[in-house]
Amino acid sequence: MMGAAGLGACSAGSAEPAGAGAGESSGAGGKVSFDIFRAPAVDDGGLVNISGDLLAVLEGGELAGACERYWKGAKDRRSRLLCGKSMFFYESFGTAGVPAVIPKFLVENFPEEIGPGFSKLGMIADPTSKAKLPLGMVPTTPLGGTVEALAFSCASCHFGRLPDGRYAVGAPNHAYQYGKHNLAMALFPMLATPLGNAKDQDPEAVAAIQPLLDRVKAEPALGQKLLMALLPLAGASGQVPPFPKEAQRHYARWKSGTMDFFIEPLPFNDRVHTVSKISALWAIPDPEEQTAAGMRHAMLGWTGGTSSLLNFVKEFVSLGGGKLADWPEERILPLVEYIYTLRSPDNLSPPPADQAERGAALFAEKGCLRCHGGPRGSGLDVYTYDEIGTDREMGRWSDPELSGEPCCNITFEPGDEITHGIKSPRLNGLWAFSRFLHNGSVDSLESLFCLVPRGSISEPAYGDGGHWYTCDGLDDEQKRDLIAFLRSH
Ligand code: HEC
Ligand code: HEC
Repeated sequence: MMGAAGLGACSAGSAEPAGAGAGESSGAGGKVSFDIFRAPAVDDGGLVNISGDLLAVLEGGELAGACERYWKGAKDRRSRLLCGKSMFFYESFGTAGVPAVIPKFLVENFPEEIGPGFSKLGMIADPTSKAKLPLGMVPTTPLGGTVEALAFSCASCHFGRLPDGRYAVGAPNHAYQYGKHNLAMALFPMLATPLGNAKDQDPEAVAAIQPLLDRVKAEPALGQKLLMALLPLAGASGQVPPFPKEAQRHYARWKSGTMDFFIEPLPFNDRVHTVSKISALWAIPDPEEQTAAGMRHAMLGWTGGTSSLLNFVKEFVSLGGGKLADWPEERILPLVEYIYTLRSPDNLSPPPADQAERGAALFAEKGCLRCHGGPRGSGLDVYTYDEIGTDREMGRWSDPELSGEPCCNITFEPGDEITHGIKSPRLNGLWAFSRFLHNGSVDSLESLFCLVPRGSISEPAYGDGGHWYTCDGLDDEQKRDLIAFLRSH
């Protein structure tokens, strides 16, 4: 652990973009020549990662069996990336899951409330799934060794639909109502059978799934059907993890596209409630670019503490309840390499070029480059919440006592740090976002730039204040120019 080393000190006064590919601002009326958004060219194997045609994005059925074909000998780059892509959509890594009968029951019986593939909760139905499951819910280790279970793959959160209707791999699915989805799977079954009792549960959480409960009340046969579906699980019921009221309430309150992973009923609980917005996975700097840019490592996650993409995936496995021993590094690497090939989609209705050009100049003039001068506008440092002013609960993520070591049996891979701070994220593809700041507390760039008021929410973890660089010292026209600049990449 490097602890808090390097925190906060972004070298004041240096307005020059750092890192590979960044040039300099030519000032004096000339065209701005720096391009923080430029990403290195990459061989993506010809895969379709952005398209209006969902089946094309799923490679027309080629994802099925792609890893088997790769490991059996089809060792060209395209085959390797296809394997990585099939893992992105269809691999659970044996992480903790829910009994498959529950999501299947919900999808089958609640077309209005849940929709095929949980589409009413912002997921995307898998057109190849007979059971109408969503992309992102896939088979995992059976519960108690026998009960068929489903868990998340990367696609549940990191595959989304763009505002123009295209699908894009790596898009943060800010429409995904993760909290409600989980309440439907974990709380609803406890209440919907004739044995259920809403009095022992959090009222807000119950309200979030009330439309489902109302249906069961109106159609008692549904409750009976659910009971029959759940009966075979009785033997595994000792394995149902606790879901205390306080945790239930958080699930009910999270906005779509936001969540906490270290909380019940998930395998680890860090005893601090933090809210994380789903990140985009577009043009993550690879080790070569990290070094050229002067980054200390990959700086992944909102706290910037995860030192490599490989470590990030390993921790997804181990902290999600999977067995890392089953996942030697070489088996994970095709996924890692595939993620490096993802690029942000072009904005097909870009703002006027002259406005974006003025915004680019302002981005340098107004000091944004000081913290957003690295690859794709990311920062090279981790900052304190005192400096940035955004909600500070995340500062205690995985380490509520600020000891410098993870609490609660949480273990990170060698090289990763607990920073207690916040990184400045990459800024590519923001035109497709509907959540801003690390906790998703701000819903538009207009609001981030205070063209629409913000800063009134003070409830811990949900606070929507801070990062006033996008508000103070800028007039409305300058704000619109800066927004145009950001939305044009
Ligand atoms: C249930 C939702 C969900 C699933 C499933 C999920 N992620 Fe994420 N991902 C998130 C959220 C939320 C964040 C932001 C976490 C944070 O830093 O606090 C994130 C952040 C990341 C980041 C950091 C990006 C950056 O620039 O800092 C990477 C890399 C990533 N995820 C990769 C993956 C991969 C690979 C998978 C599949 C193995 C996966 N995620 C599965 C929700 C999810
Ligand atoms: C002192 C460092 C610093 C300066 C200066 C700064 N930023 Fe940031 N920026 C950050 C950090 C750190 C975050 C993440 C804050 C959080 O989510 O809590 C961030 C977040 C953002 C985001 C939100 C991204 C997302 O995914 O939600 C945008 C957009 C942004 N900055 C643009 C700008 C612009 C434009 C300027 C100049 C007017 C600027 N920043 C100045 C550090 C800085």
